[in-house]
Amino acid sequence: MRLNKFMSSCGVASRRRCDEIISEGRVRVNAVVVKKMGIKINPETDIVAVDGRPIRLKGDLVYYMMNKPVGYITSVKDPQGRKTVMELLPAINKRVYPVGRLDYNTSGLLLFTNDGEITQKLMHPSFEFGKTYMVVIKGDITEQELQKLRDGVDIGDFVTSKAEVKKISNLNNQSSIQITIHEGKNRQVRRMFKAINKSIVELSRIALGKLTLKGLKVGEVRELSEEEINYLNSL
Ligand code: URA
Repeated sequence: MRLNKFMSSCGVASRRRCDEIISEGRVRVNAVVVKKMGIKINPETDIVAVDGRPIRLKGDLVYYMMNKPVGYITSVKDPQGRKTVMELLPAINKRVYPVGRLDYNTSGLLLFTNDGEITQKLMHPSFEFGKTYMVVIKGDITEQELQKLRDGVDIGDFVTSKAEVKKISNLNNQSSIQITIHEGKNRQVRRMFKAINKSIVELSRIALGKLTLKGLKVGEVRELSEEEINYLNSL
């Protein structure tokens, strides 16, 4: 396939504009700058990068959402032989990876994709993408304790930044709290509740930015809609 056609099929720009980008020396094929017009590449094997970023045919990119059950590790393999989230994916003829991680004992929204650019963007520490969790704790929680979580708590090596926190219910000596954090430290939500001496009974992620499970049951997987993919690309 011609390089300019490949680039436009990847959504870089129109073919004419892609020719200009090539002549500006901004395109590398297998790490080598290419300025010559009309060269052909193999979309299966050649790695094309524009301004240092690898590009891929849009049709090759896939995006899935899982409602992860408790008792699965977010990893491609587990040396201890525990069940992995990969076992719950349908047969996909593409190699996808989880975006970020949910603990073994955490359930909820987990994304999978082969889109490295989106993965890097969502996981970058400077990217303030809201992650919303439903937390069930033992006993009740006071307004002062909720405020502490909102303002930031010391979780050992780190003081958390502002979070949105609201109590949803208090029933049968358990409380449900919804919390949105904008960071992703290891076991952050568990450590935040530990810092205010609350014991978590259940932890589930219910949203990533505007993406929600939308009725997806625990253990189920679905493809993201075009609207959801556009949303991720727009971030
Ligand atoms: N915070 C946690 O403590 N655990 C998770 O799995 C995700 C966020």
